[in-house]
Amino acid sequence: MSQGESNVLLKPALLLVGTVIAAVVVVFALNGVLAYLGIGAVGPAGPQADAPATPQANASGSGESAVAAGEGGVQKLPGTWPGEKWYSEDLREQEFDYKDPTAGEEVQFQPKQMNNSTLPDNEHRAELIRYGRDLFANTSNEMPENVGNDLSCANCHGGGDLPTTTGMVGQDIDMIPLVGTAAGYPEWTGRTQRMRDMRQRIMGCFLRSMNAPGAEEGVPEYDSREMQAMESYMVWLNKGTPSQRTPYWRHIEKPEGDEKVPVSEVNPVRGAELYLENCASCHGADGQGIEGQYPPLWGEGSYNDGAGMGRMYTSAGFIREAMPYGAGHTFSNWEDVQDVAGFMNAHKRPHLPRQPKDWAAAGAPDEGIYYNRTQQRLGYDMNPMTKKLMLAGMPIDDTEVTEEMIPEDTSRYDQPLRNESVDGSWQTTWIRTYEDVGNETATNQSATNETATNQSAITAQGAVTSAMEGDGDSRAAG
Ligand code: HEC
Ligand code: HEC
Repeated sequence: MSQGESNVLLKPALLLVGTVIAAVVVVFALNGVLAYLGIGAVGPAGPQADAPATPQANASGSGESAVAAGEGGVQKLPGTWPGEKWYSEDLREQEFDYKDPTAGEEVQFQPKQMNNSTLPDNEHRAELIRYGRDLFANTSNEMPENVGNDLSCANCHGGGDLPTTTGMVGQDIDMIPLVGTAAGYPEWTGRTQRMRDMRQRIMGCFLRSMNAPGAEEGVPEYDSREMQAMESYMVWLNKGTPSQRTPYWRHIEKPEGDEKVPVSEVNPVRGAELYLENCASCHGADGQGIEGQYPPLWGEGSYNDGAGMGRMYTSAGFIREAMPYGAGHTFSNWEDVQDVAGFMNAHKRPHLPRQPKDWAAAGAPDEGIYYNRTQQRLGYDMNPMTKKLMLAGMPIDDTEVTEEMIPEDTSRYDQPLRNESVDGSWQTTWIRTYEDVGNETATNQSATNETATNQSAITAQGAVTSAMEGDGDSRAAG
């Protein structure tokens, strides 16, 4: 039919095209020959002569004397290095005098400004970095579908509203700074016996600190624009720092050795007194803070029970360095700060469905007081801090705590009090109970119903999410 006709017409056309192609090929071939004969000497020869330069010399441009590598310890960085001045070296060696009103001012701090000289020329990249900064500073408003509480990254990774930093989250030396930490990725995580990259680390903070499972969409997609933006911002923060070195400010300084109060001896009832004195003015006697100003410390709007901040020694380290806000380092001793941390983490908070699967092999560390297996190992039938508050007849929800509620004799709660029993309604609350979690993990270790469901809901990101679990070392997950 009409197809036959058009075929007839097509043939001459194809012939013509074929001829043109053939001609072009011949011209190219000729060109090639000419190029080979004529200008062949120019191309590769020049650069190649210099190519086998010394790779070692390229690896470290800083010119500092080499620090012995492979010792396994954290390498200390100098406070300054060519071109950029960042933080005072002795920031963390200062004396922490109790209630020293000038303690905050001793912190010398030279943050990086965000401007044309520090941003890349490419406008798209620069835009991504600026967007990343906004996401860090204002996470729950910018990404409501991925944030299941009222927090922003900046609430823990401070600097978001410091006038000196013009809102550069992650540049407050006292609040889990993120400067230079991008160089540490990808990194090995003992917990899951695998490598994880920076986006997976950020996703971990969403999963836990931002309680993403409680949000509409949960953890943001690995390759989303938001994730790229936050990664870009971290890389921007890293620019100018020597790579391959761990900054001395990385990781919260937790209590070590003698500084540690054994978990069963931490006294959250005494912590309540200290809380009213030092924290309640901002975070409220109910721990709920003030929206847009002071973040909530417990309850539905706070981090969940799988977050790094929910661990005793991690939160104590954070509080000691960062709180009271603007006057960090004012607690005289580790005991005080651990009691406050115990009080804060005695309270109810959102539950992370996969929490029982954390630390599957090694077992949760003692400081993981929201973890059922820690509780069991320490001989408790619930979070030991929660137990002590309940024994003292004090609220563990967002009821305001008052002086009158605190018993006269707080020293009784220095004891473990393991075997006393509490009555109350804690078992029916939205923080999962020992019975819930205990039965699940005991009878069905490998695949609890809830974690299995949760897993399959995010199988698209399977490998990604499995790298978001807590670390196996003493370092905190976010
Ligand atoms: C002067 C007000 C103020 C006081 C007092 C204060 N904080 Fe904060 N706290 C803040 C602010 C503001 C932030 C968020 C910082 C930011 O966004 O840059 C914060 C953040 C936090 C965070 C991390 C975010 C979260 O909600 O989990 C914790 C934990 C915390 N404070 C605990 C404490 C404890 C414990 C005390 C008492 C020792 C205390 N704070 C005293 C203002 C205060
Ligand atoms: C409730 C407090 C809290 C909030 C909110 C929070 N984080 Fe974290 N984050 C932590 C803690 C605790 C650590 C572990 C600190 C340490 O290593 O000692 C951490 C660590 C990190 C690290 C690893 C830093 C390093 O040195 O490698 C990154 C990256 C990070 N958080 C990103 C984020 C992002 C992005 C957000 C917001 C989506 C966020 N965090 C929100 C508490 C928080």
